[in-house]
Amino acid sequence: MFLSCILLVAAAARNTLALVQAPALPGAPPISSEDRIYTGDQSSNTVTVIKPSTNEVLGTISLGDPRLTNLVGPQYLKSINSHGLGFSRDGKHIVSLSVTSNTVNVIRTLDNSIVSQTFSDRAPHEAFFTADNRTVWVACRGTSFINIIDGLEGGIIGRIQTAPGPSKVLFSPDGKTAYANHILSPSVDIIDVANRKVTHIIHGLADVFSSDMMLSADGTRLWVAHKMIGKVSIIDLTTRTVVTALATGPETNHPNFAIINGTTYGFVTVAAVNATKVYRQDTPASSPVFITAIEASGVEPHGIWPSPDNTRMYVVNEHSDSVDVIDTSTLSVIDTLHVGQEGQALVYVAGAVPASTNVSTYTANLGHQGLSGRVENVLIPVVSNTSRTTATNGSALITIRALPGLDMLQIIGRHLRANVTYVLSASPTGYGGDKPVAVKIPLVEFNASVPDPMGCEIAPQVLGFMKVFGVYGLNTFEIGPKSI
Ligand SMILES: *[C@@H]1O[C@H](CO)[C@@H](O)[C@H](O)[C@H]1NC(C)=O
Ligand SMILES: *[C@@H]1O[C@H](CO)[C@@H](O)[C@H](O)[C@H]1NC(C)=O
Ligand SMILES: *[C@@H]1O[C@H](CO)[C@@H](O)[C@H](O)[C@H]1NC(C)=O
Ligand SMILES: *[C@@H]1O[C@H](CO)[C@@H](O)[C@H](O)[C@H]1NC(C)=O
Ligand SMILES: *[C@@H]1O[C@H](CO)[C@@H](O)[C@H](O)[C@H]1NC(C)=O
Ligand SMILES: *[C@@H]1O[C@H](CO)[C@@H](O)[C@H](O)[C@H]1NC(C)=O
Ligand SMILES: *[C@@H]1O[C@H](CO)[C@@H](O)[C@H](O)[C@H]1NC(C)=O
Ligand SMILES: *[C@@H]1O[C@H](CO)[C@@H](O)[C@H](O)[C@H]1NC(C)=O
Repeated sequence: MFLSCILLVAAAARNTLALVQAPALPGAPPISSEDRIYTGDQSSNTVTVIKPSTNEVLGTISLGDPRLTNLVGPQYLKSINSHGLGFSRDGKHIVSLSVTSNTVNVIRTLDNSIVSQTFSDRAPHEAFFTADNRTVWVACRGTSFINIIDGLEGGIIGRIQTAPGPSKVLFSPDGKTAYANHILSPSVDIIDVANRKVTHIIHGLADVFSSDMMLSADGTRLWVAHKMIGKVSIIDLTTRTVVTALATGPETNHPNFAIINGTTYGFVTVAAVNATKVYRQDTPASSPVFITAIEASGVEPHGIWPSPDNTRMYVVNEHSDSVDVIDTSTLSVIDTLHVGQEGQALVYVAGAVPASTNVSTYTANLGHQGLSGRVENVLIPVVSNTSRTTATNGSALITIRALPGLDMLQIIGRHLRANVTYVLSASPTGYGGDKPVAVKIPLVEFNASVPDPMGCEIAPQVLGFMKVFGVYGLNTFEIGPKSI
C-alpha cells in the first residue's frame, strides 16, 4: 500500500515534470505531436490551429462572422475581433479575447470546442490562466480593472483595480505574482495573486502606451513593448527597476525569449521594418546588445512565441496572414505557413492534445474560415502637395484583403503632416482589362492623428470596406493632401 502510493506520486511527478510551457529553461522536452500553436486572427474572426511537429495548419476555429458581413446587424450575438490569446499551464485550455464584443472565450485544446464564454468589462485585450489551470485574469483596456473569470464555468468572479488601461497580464513562474502593463500609464503593476491586490508599482517606463510584454523563462526579466514610440522598456525583476529603454524600431510589437547556447536572447517583432530583431542580454541588469534582424517572409510581424526546447521561434505576419518558423540556431526563417486573416497574438501550447487522441477528435470544430483569402500589400510614398514632392518622407502601407462580399482596405500612414486631411485615390482597371484608365477615383479620406517621435504624425489604422481586387489597379494608388 505504502509502496504503491510512492509509485503513484513518482508517476504523477514525472508527468508534471514532462509538461513545460515556453518560454522555458534549457532541458524542456522537444517539439512533440501533442503540441499546438494558435494565432488570434482579427479580420477572419478565427483562431488558427497549427501542429508544430509537422508545421501543418489543421484549420481555424470560428468565433463569429468575418469582419463586416453581419457584425453590425442588431441580431448579431457572436464574438467580434479575435485578438489576444493565453493558455493554462496544463495545456488543456486556451483563452481568446474578442476586443470589440468584450467576449472571453475559453477553448478546450483537445477538440477545439468552446467551454465557456464570458462578457467582460470593456475591451478585453490579453489574458492568462493562473497556475490553478482554471482561473483567467483578463486585462480590460477600456477600464482600470483586471477581470477574474472562472474559465470552466464562465462568469466574472472578481475584479482588481489597476492603473488605467490594463493591457496584458502575465504570471511569475511560481504563479504567486502577476504583472500588468497599460495603454494609459507608464508603469507596471505587480499584484499578489493570493490577495488579488497591487502591492508594488514599477514607474518610469518609456511610454504610457504598452500593448504587449513578456517574462523570461526564469521570471527575472520583463520586456515591455511600446508600439507608438518604437521602444522596449527592459525591466530587471530582481530589483524591480527599469534597466533601459531599448530603441527597437517603428511599430514595435511583441517581445519573447529564447535561451541559446546558455545565454538569454530577447526577440522583438518590429512591424514597420518587416523584421524580428534579436538582442543578447547576459544578465537581467545588463543592457541588451543588438545581434541581428531576421527578415520576415511577410509584412508587419506581430505575435511571437518560442517552442519550450528553445529551438524555434514562431512569428505571425499580421499583414500577410502567415506564420514564419525561425530556427534559433541559424536565426533565419525556415518555413512559412498560411493562417487566418490579420493575426495578432500567437502562443505555443505544449501538451495540448494527448498522443492517444485520434484525428477526428483533435480536428473537431475546425473549419477553413479565413484560410483562403487573398491579401496584398503596397507601400507608396505620400505626396505633399501639387509639386508631388515627398517633403516629409511620408509613406503609406496599403493592405487589401478579400473578405466575404467585400475587400478590406487598410492604410498605415507614416511621417505625415499634422492637421492635414489626406485622400487615397486609385484608377479603375476598366471593363475587363488590366490596364487602368487614366482617372483617379477618391476611395477614402483620413487625418493623421497620432504624433510620432520624429515630429510628424501617423495614421495607424485607416479602414475601408469596398470592392478593390479586380476593380482598381493596385499599382495606381496615390495618397496626398485633399486640397491638391
Ligand atoms: C496546473 O497544471 C500544471 C502543469 O500540468 C501542474 O503542474 C499544476 O499542478 C496544475 N495545477 C493545479 C492546481 O492542478
Ligand atoms: C550557438 O552556438 C553555435 C555552435 O557554436 C553557433 O553556430 C551559433 O551561432 C550560436 N548561436 C548564437 C545565437 O550565438
Ligand atoms: C515591408 O513589406 C512591404 C510590402 O511587401 C515592402 O513594400 C516594404 O519595402 C517592406 N519594408 C521593409 C523595411 O522591408
Ligand atoms: C475518436 O475518439 C473519440 C473519443 O474517444 C471516439 O468517440 C471516436 O469514436 C473516435 N473516432 C475514431 C474515428 O476512432
Ligand atoms: C510643397 O511642399 C514643400 C515642402 O513642404 C514646399 O517646400 C514647397 O514649396 C511646396 N510646393 C508647393 C507648390 O506648394
Ligand atoms: C527624408 O529622407 C532623406 C534621406 O533619408 C533625409 O536626408 C531627409 O532629411 C528626410 N527629410 C525629412 C523631412 O525627414
Ligand atoms: C493641429 O491642430 C490642433 C488643434 O487645432 C492644434 O492644437 C495643433 O497645434 C495643430 N498642429 C499643427 C502642427 O499645426
Ligand atoms: C479631419 O479633420 C477635420 C478638421 O478637424 C475634420 O473636419 C474632418 O472631419 C476630419 N476627417 C476625417 C476623415 O476624420
